[in-house]
Amino acid sequence: MTILGIETSCDETSAAVIRDGKLMSNVTAAQLFHKKYGGVVPELASRAHQRLIVPVVDEALSNSGIRKDQLDAVAAVYGPGLIGSILVGLSFGKSMALGLGIPFVGVNHMEAHILSNLIDSPKPSFPFVNLTVSGGHTQLVLVRKPFDYELLGETKDDAAGEAFDKVAKMLGLAYPGGPEVDKLAAKGNSKFVEFPRSYLDEDSFEFSFSGLKTSVLYYLRRIEYDKSKNNGDSALVANICASFQAAVVDVLIQKLVRAAKKFQTRDIAIAGGVAANSELRRRLKAVAGENNLSLFIPKFEYCTDNGAMIAMVGYLKMLGGVASDLELTAEPNLELC
Ligand code: KG4
Ligand code: ZN
Repeated sequence: MTILGIETSCDETSAAVIRDGKLMSNVTAAQLFHKKYGGVVPELASRAHQRLIVPVVDEALSNSGIRKDQLDAVAAVYGPGLIGSILVGLSFGKSMALGLGIPFVGVNHMEAHILSNLIDSPKPSFPFVNLTVSGGHTQLVLVRKPFDYELLGETKDDAAGEAFDKVAKMLGLAYPGGPEVDKLAAKGNSKFVEFPRSYLDEDSFEFSFSGLKTSVLYYLRRIEYDKSKNNGDSALVANICASFQAAVVDVLIQKLVRAAKKFQTRDIAIAGGVAANSELRRRLKAVAGENNLSLFIPKFEYCTDNGAMIAMVGYLKMLGGVASDLELTAEPNLELC
């Protein structure tokens, strides 16, 4: 069973080929020009997807050594995400499947992030608890088996990655801010400022990061922070980054581990761009060890948006004989379940 997977839900144009569950290629073109606007500009993202989709798919096929006529199905993301971006990959994927006379499979982007944990080995065993943390989402999910999920909680306001990006902007750091904060925090003192941890109530698996973001803003105002100069004090910036990052990481870890205990899973996993955060990875490894949990984190290239995770969902759906109708349309607000 050979599947081509296409991802274009935000600002990465990516395509991958999976054969019998094994990843044969994964090609991603990141649209770095959004940096100068301080965020993703939807219209420019869809234009770039339009320009990149043919070369990216060609390269994914050529790197895999598999010809178009050897494909059994084409899978493409149909939501959630930016509608203009989704439409490029979705229309391309449906047309390609139609032209080749093979099935088309529409893929939910959030499901793909969860199942990105199945791309490499060793893989988590079912059931496991997964935390997807990206620029657009923070979702804690009990994964009973593929296609059988229980959404335990998600963010009520900002996503974890969005909080990183907004705090970085307040500090005058480059976009996307997550990796910048991560880098600077490594040199800072995480106890320098005691920012609030929003645990909501004890039993809740919901998240909230807007209060933390506002606390950072008030703190910066109080110290009359000048972002155009990064306050000329790199130790101060590093300390603020470390303190903010610790507040986010504490909440993410506390809820993930509590969910694993409540649902008695042995395995836990994280996915999405924020899963690249070095402090989250370091602390989670330690906490997993202390709690007898096995931790799974996809390789960095499968944490950020990628075609491989789309191909993986397409592959599993095709194994179950579940193709999609060609009338499937883009769903920018598609829910996980
Ligand atoms: O999954 P992703 O590539 O795109 C979606 O949002 O779907 O995630 C991007 C997010 C951005 O908010 C970025 O700042 C954050 O992931 N990010 C990080 C790190 N690397 C990327 N956040 C914290 N630490 C990092 N090392
Ligand atoms: Zn994503």
